Amino acid sequence: MTQDELKGLVGQAALQYVVPGHIVGVGTGSTVNRFIDALAGMKDRIAGAVSSSLASTARLEALGIRVFDANEVGEIPVYVDGADEIDGRGFMIKGGGAALTREKIIAAQSARFVCIADESKLVGVLGRYPVPVEVIPMATQRLVRQFAALGGTAQVRQRDGQPLVTDNGQHLLDVAGLAIADPLRFESDVNQWPGVVTVGVFAWHKAAVCLLGTAGGVRTLAF
Ligand code: 5RP
Repeated sequence: MTQDELKGLVGQAALQYVVPGHIVGVGTGSTVNRFIDALAGMKDRIAGAVSSSLASTARLEALGIRVFDANEVGEIPVYVDGADEIDGRGFMIKGGGAALTREKIIAAQSARFVCIADESKLVGVLGRYPVPVEVIPMATQRLVRQFAALGGTAQVRQRDGQPLVTDNGQHLLDVAGLAIADPLRFESDVNQWPGVVTVGVFAWHKAAVCLLGTAGGVRTLAF
């Protein structure tokens, strides 16, 4: 099976976790796009969605799914999103699609995080994938130095030759060279650094379930 077919498989499988009659939280990325396409098949059985990015909102609305602001709804039963890496405890690196801040807000507002990913995302220790960090632009170079002191190499993510601007009007660092042995501590520590908006380690709001697309079918990991 191709990676794209594996994404389609887990996108479809995530439908079983959607609670009829309720709002569903929707993440961002190519795997989530497959979930959104599948969700369109049950749009009359859900109350609507809360979305983690302008891109996912546009896709949901194009398929006739109503999108609510997070402030308009209470606790969300289920949040479905992808990951750049996930470990055997359900800790994740996220933000490859630049949507990490809104993703973490919805994860915090949701009772259950259902991660959908192909098997290439499962790792022993987080950090092979550069950790995305959303930052206030005036703090960028000081944060680059602070990550260097941890052994990481931080680069400002670019788009069309300019720093990428997130949906929240901020910039992103991608930090390579870290091996994150204690994701809970790493997330707590980096979140305290002035100028950090969100660090793309999801440890305090980790996955409850991961639907992993493998050559043998969907493997369900429960944490
Ligand atoms: C976006 C994310 C995505 O979930 C992550 O990048 C995985 O994306 P894809 O499904 O395209 O591999 O965190 O900010």
